[in-house]
Amino acid sequence: MDPRTLKIEAARAALAYVADGMKIGIGTGSTAEEFVRLLAEKVKGGLRVVGVPTSERTAALCRELGVKLTTLDDEPSLDLTVDGADEVDADLTLIKGGGGALLREKIVAAASGAMIVIADGSKVVDTLGRFSLPIEVNRFGLGATRLAVQRAAEKLGVRGQIILRGGENPFVTDGGHFILDASFGRIPDARALSAALHAIPGVVEHGLFIGLAKRAVIAFSDGVRQMTPARN
Ligand code: 5RP
Repeated sequence: MDPRTLKIEAARAALAYVADGMKIGIGTGSTAEEFVRLLAEKVKGGLRVVGVPTSERTAALCRELGVKLTTLDDEPSLDLTVDGADEVDADLTLIKGGGGALLREKIVAAASGAMIVIADGSKVVDTLGRFSLPIEVNRFGLGATRLAVQRAAEKLGVRGQIILRGGENPFVTDGGHFILDASFGRIPDARALSAALHAIPGVVEHGLFIGLAKRAVIAFSDGVRQMTPARN
């Protein structure tokens, strides 16, 4: 089965958790976009939902397809968020931010009663870290922040290249920040790394999502499987 079909199958299965009248967080990325397309079909068929988009890109697609939007200012508490991920482990700890929307994605997920991850089977890993960890940082003091990230990671025995996304033409997030992509290879203790990164003043947020996802809907070529956290 081709990757797009798997994404559509995961998105379709997650739609079963969306009920009439819900306020939902709407993720970012190619899998989340398939979810928006399927959701829009349901909306055309009469489903009443209102969504908080996790990026300008998702907001634009929702507007184009007729999915009604709101904000966390008007609706500070959401029923459900459906979003993609770059990596998912057995505890449903995630790496997110490949699409650069990790800050809004985390704010929206944290404001939701539940977060459901949709992905194809290639995103499931035993240990997080094969995918680079996106770290959203303030533009001011970039060099110092990068060094602090490197030192904090090294104290935990985690090493790897840390590069500015976009290089000479840095990628700028919807919040106006830069992203450092850290190729750590293996993150044995996500909670410890999360705490260490949060302690660095220039770090706005990082792409480790811990304890937020309550369910993952994962599409494999032989069918869709549902995962709930092994431990969290
Ligand atoms: C965006 C994200 C995405 O959810 C993540 O990158 C997965 O994207 P895709 O569904 O395209 O593989 O975190 O910031």
